[in-house]
Amino acid sequence: MRICVVGCGYVGLVVACSLSICGHSVCAVERDQKKLSLLRQNKMPFYEKGLQAMLLEARKKNALTFTDDLRTALENSDLVFVTVGTPSLADGRVDLGQVRSVAEGIAELATKPVTVVMKSTVPPGTGRALCEAIFSKASVPIKYVSNPEFLREGEAVFDWLHPDRIVIGVNNPSDAEGLLKVYQHIEAPKLVMDVTSAEMVKYAANAFLATKISFINEIANLCELVGADILQVSKGVGLDKRIGPSFLRAGLGYGGSCFPKDTKALDYVSSFNGHSFNLLKAVIQVNAEQRIRVVRKLEHALTGLTGRRIGILGLAFKPGTDDTREAPAIDIATQLLSQGAIVHACDPVVELGPSHHLSNLTYKDPYEAVKGCQAVLLATEWDMFLRLDWSRVKELMEPPYVVLDGRNVLDKDELTKKGFMYLGIGR
Ligand code: UDX
Repeated sequence: MRICVVGCGYVGLVVACSLSICGHSVCAVERDQKKLSLLRQNKMPFYEKGLQAMLLEARKKNALTFTDDLRTALENSDLVFVTVGTPSLADGRVDLGQVRSVAEGIAELATKPVTVVMKSTVPPGTGRALCEAIFSKASVPIKYVSNPEFLREGEAVFDWLHPDRIVIGVNNPSDAEGLLKVYQHIEAPKLVMDVTSAEMVKYAANAFLATKISFINEIANLCELVGADILQVSKGVGLDKRIGPSFLRAGLGYGGSCFPKDTKALDYVSSFNGHSFNLLKAVIQVNAEQRIRVVRKLEHALTGLTGRRIGILGLAFKPGTDDTREAPAIDIATQLLSQGAIVHACDPVVELGPSHHLSNLTYKDPYEAVKGCQAVLLATEWDMFLRLDWSRVKELMEPPYVVLDGRNVLDKDELTKKGFMYLGIGR
């Protein structure tokens, strides 16, 4: 099939590379000239495990081209995947500017019937509005399909090949045919439903996962007060098949490009529709407070923050990615700095731009980062930090040798034996 993918972010590039390797002819559209030039040289504009190799394979097959010209890309395409960004506005609303502009572009430039597959995360009701206001006015018939994406960053390639389900929202059941063909080799339940329900599946899934995280973080906070261990509690709770073990890891809370944005957007949509989604509001609040708690813990352990030197291990919002959007580490570092602490940060892949307020404080070598620190916060559970030589770390640090294990992944007993003041989350 001839496919056009508009937007070369995490989702767009995974879609474009995977489909071209599977035998489709793909033209990917990117308006950012810097990104476009990197991609044309077969270079990745961001880090995502396994994707660089896929890009090279797709390009070797001559199955993937890059352009900034939507008109040319549309000329030869049967399916157009829309994978542009939908960032948050200050009030929690989703900024649909890029989605609307691509939709208008397609409606204006399409010269033959085409199916638009919306993969960008858009609030429930958006597809219906786009069809009414834009696609129905095009000079050629345009079919609209909502096909939310559930990829995790860092595992995007694996998740694409092994999804739990494929959700397809359509106005008429026959509109799903082209997309079902594209997915014919992927083994997963394929659910065809109406457009608004498909949009809602994405928000409900993310809100539910975020709820699990905030719930377990609240249980962890309570564990600290009553003297229970969250690791044992999570295990005991997660073995109940009705609950399941995933997303029960207590820590610094969720970050990234999806959960913070999507929970706020769903809260906004609820309020807009006259419904106060109190549970979701609490999930968002608990997540924000989890970061403040960590700052307070460090303040307490170091009897103040002014002039204290604190090493932050990990800046990415989770391992396997260089994404720092809504990353707890960045937020915590900023709060520590504003309260007079001296911060050293370390991440194996994150490259902060020269204008970033933490760029001068960032090290590649964790041993350099912990030098002279009174406390170390493990913020991202990169393998590199799990394999640290803690005796060497201790020699480089200064009393009171605080280790705040923000992801509960370090060996508490071993660190305590080595003379560290170990603090976890809910332990
Ligand atoms: C998420 C969804 O999983 C994915 O389906 C959706 O398409 C995009 O949003 P992603 O943001 O890549 O994916 O990361 P994920 O692995 O789900 O983790 C999200 C955040 O939750 C991370 O900050 C992670 O550290 C945190 N988390 C996750 C916890 O704090 N505890 C857990 O038990 C699980």
